[in-house]
Amino acid sequence: MSLCLVANWKLNGSKEFNHQWALEFLRNFNGNNFSILGIAPASLYIDHLKTILTDCDIEIGSQNIDLEETGARTGEISASMIKELGCAFSIIGHSERRMLFHETNQMICQKLIQADNNSVIPILCIGESAEENQSNNTFNVLEQQIIEALENANELSALIIAYEPVWAIGSGKTPKPEEINSVHEMIKDVVQSRFPKIGLESVLYGGSVNFKNASSLFEQKNVDGALIGGASLDGREFALIANVFNELRV
Ligand code: 13P
Repeated sequence: MSLCLVANWKLNGSKEFNHQWALEFLRNFNGNNFSILGIAPASLYIDHLKTILTDCDIEIGSQNIDLEETGARTGEISASMIKELGCAFSIIGHSERRMLFHETNQMICQKLIQADNNSVIPILCIGESAEENQSNNTFNVLEQQIIEALENANELSALIIAYEPVWAIGSGKTPKPEEINSVHEMIKDVVQSRFPKIGLESVLYGGSVNFKNASSLFEQKNVDGALIGGASLDGREFALIANVFNELRV
């Protein structure tokens, strides 16, 4: 089974935070691990988190990788490096990286290939802006992001897509669950029809997911899980969300 709930800790965390988070998570998680959980901490803490979470079934991943394998690229981290540290996955093309670090779909495509070459599962993030949403352009924008990111990476052995509307991230707003469901259906259709050689494992939703709205999202047929920012920083809340997921998806 593919990754279902993934915590994106963004630029947060410390060794102390990791310990406290693990305590809170383990205290509240009901242990019925029907889903596969993942955490993407800041890359510096991948190793530390691996040692803390040895006894639980949680995969660790990175929030980004470089588009090259080696070279004069100060500050970057490659897919093979995170693989060596035991990472199972990497988030790629998050909207914050697209906006703050000017990542293009072409760069994202190269990163997807790097991940695949190193048997790291890429979680490709796509999402529309508030304006694009208001002008009813969501489907077109997402389709274009998918096609541009995948057209030269059309034989990925595994892929997870995370639909994260930019306007829903950290805002407390989400599209209606039924709207998310139809977007996910469209994403699956586009990938399966245009890129039949890609092993699309699941489509996750991201953007203001929390314990309160989790069940309404997980009840949707095409929502295979979630990529969670703010609420995942609280080990207890992440555990409660995982419990909701497990109850609904047994
Ligand atoms: P929030 O859950 O804080 O809205 O963040 C979502 C996100 O960006 C996950 O990648």
